[in-house]
Amino acid sequence: MAEPLEIEPAEGSAGDDIAPELLRRAFGTFTTGVTVIGARSEDGRLVGMTANSFTSVSLHPPLVLFCPARSLAAFDVYSTARHFSVSVLPAHGEASSNRFARTNTAKWESEPHRVGKTGAPLLLGALASFECEVVARHDGGDHLIVVGRVAYLQATETGEPLVFFRSRYRALDSQTRLVAPVSDPWFVVWE
Ligand SMILES: Cc1cc2nc3c(=O)[nH]c(=O)nc-3n(C[C@H](O)[C@H](O)[C@H](O)COP(=O)(O)O)c2cc1C
Repeated sequence: MAEPLEIEPAEGSAGDDIAPELLRRAFGTFTTGVTVIGARSEDGRLVGMTANSFTSVSLHPPLVLFCPARSLAAFDVYSTARHFSVSVLPAHGEASSNRFARTNTAKWESEPHRVGKTGAPLLLGALASFECEVVARHDGGDHLIVVGRVAYLQATETGEPLVFFRSRYRALDSQTRLVAPVSDPWFVVWE
């Protein structure tokens, strides 16, 4: 059994009192994949950031979102660009993830990529890639919530993902078992 997290805040206290370290620890239990978000500034500069805030939102219309921190060096680009790209990293994408998580570097120069139809850069070798048109931006505290409508996409049928859990990269074990048979009705609904 996993050790329980401390319960905070104490009864009656406001959410603002939650220690950031505890929040990080709790958020870090939500396992995600890892993506690289790409965008192009008005003057043609390519920016990119590792993001695990990527989420699929809607099928009809096809919507996704990601949340850039307001503190990012390239925040002005993510908060104004009309388009962004998403590259879903494969299991061996750890070095790319680290490169795109560093601040203020020319991240795309050393990474094999192509420039998509919208002008946003996409990593070669991604499990899936999306080019999106920004349709909404919402306040998200110290982050911004950027919602995009998928305009173009590519997806592989094979390949394993890079996984992020408790601030560490993981790979799915080849022995990882399905927790329900594929015939389970819940899965059928999602097909
Ligand atoms: C696995 C992982 C996931 C991340 N997810 C996000 C995210 O969703 N939003 C965000 O603002 N930063 C996220 N970061 C940090 C950014 O990638 C990093 O601060 C950014 O690339 C710095 O870019 P800059 O040059 O614009 O400052 C993540 C980092 C890692 C390693």
